[in-house]
Amino acid sequence: MTSSPETSGPVVARTRDELRAARKALTGNEIAVVMTMGALHDGHATLIRQARASADRVIVTIFLNPLQFGPREDLSRYPRTFDADLEICTEFGADVVFAPTPDVIYQDGDPGVRLSAGPLGDVLEGQSRPGHFDGMLTVVAKLMHLTGGSAFYFGQKDAQQLLLIRRMVRDLDFPGRVISVPTVRESDGLAMSSRNMYLTDSDREVALSLSRALKAGAAAATEGPSAVRRAARAVLVAEPLVLVDYLVLVHPTTLKDVPEWYRGEALLAVAGKVGTTRLIDNLPVLVGPGGGALQVFSNPDQLGPAELR
Ligand code: PAJ
Repeated sequence: MTSSPETSGPVVARTRDELRAARKALTGNEIAVVMTMGALHDGHATLIRQARASADRVIVTIFLNPLQFGPREDLSRYPRTFDADLEICTEFGADVVFAPTPDVIYQDGDPGVRLSAGPLGDVLEGQSRPGHFDGMLTVVAKLMHLTGGSAFYFGQKDAQQLLLIRRMVRDLDFPGRVISVPTVRESDGLAMSSRNMYLTDSDREVALSLSRALKAGAAAATEGPSAVRRAARAVLVAEPLVLVDYLVLVHPTTLKDVPEWYRGEALLAVAGKVGTTRLIDNLPVLVGPGGGALQVFSNPDQLGPAELR
C-alpha cells in the first residue's frame, strides 16, 4: 500500500488486504464509491467531485473488467493511463484508490457464479453486446462488497447500466444508495467517454451528430413521442457516416418503446459506430406539456405503467 503524504494524495490499494486496511482507516458515516475502468476524464472527475461534496469519504475504483468485454471488443486497446488517473483522483479529493489486477478481483479465475441482468440486459446495448451486462453487474456487486460503501455514484451517460445497477440493488436487497450523475459533455455537445480517444478528427465531427440528434429530439418533446423520434432520426439520416445501431424513445425503467399516447419521462437513447468506434449517448426527456431535456430522471426506481412492462 502506498500513500504520498507530501501531496496528501489518496492511499493506493492494489490487493484485498490493502483495501481492507485502507477502508478500516476511513472514518465517517457516508462512504461514497465511484467505480471506473480508468482512462479518467471530466465525466469521471464530476462523479468524484459530487461524491466528495456529499460524503465523508470517497473511494475510487480503477479496474478494467475483462468479464464485461466480448471476444471481439476493445479490451486490449482500451486506454490505460494510471498515472494521469491518479492525478485526477488526487485533484478531486479521493481518499482511497483501489486499483486491482484481474487476479485480485477474480481470485479463483473466471467466476462460475455470476449475476444475470435478466431481460433488461438483452435489449439495446445488450443486444449488441451479449453477456456485457452480466459481467458488469458481477463486478459492480463484488466492488460494492469489497469497498463496503454506502453511496454509489454512476453516470447517466450509461443509462442502461445505471438502470440495471439500480434494479440489482432493489431486486437483491443490496445495502447502499445509488446516485445518478448527469452526463458531462464537451463544449460542442459530445458526451465524454474514454473511447473518444479512438476518434480521428473527422470521426469526431461525425460523432457530433449523435448528441445533435438527441437535442433535436428533445426539442420536439412537447409534441409527443413520434415527433421526438422523427426529429432525432432526421439528424442521423443527414449523417450517413454514423452507422446507427439503435435510436429509441423508451420508458426509463422498462426500456419498452413508449406509445404515442405516453406523456411523462422517457429515455431517448442512441448507439452507433463512427469509424471503428462504437459510441452511445442518451438524454432523459420529459414528453408532453412543458417537455424537453432533463438532467436525470426524477424518480428512477419507479416501475412504469403496467402496459409498458
Ligand atoms: P467507465 O466507463 O469507466 O465509467 C465509470 C463511471 O463514469 C460510470 O458510472 C459512467 O456512467 C460514468 N461516466 C462515464 N462517462 C461519463 C460522462 N460523460 N458523464 C457522466 N458520467 C460518466 O462504466 C464503467 O466504467 C464500468 O462499466 C463499471 C461501472 C466501472 C464496471 O466495470
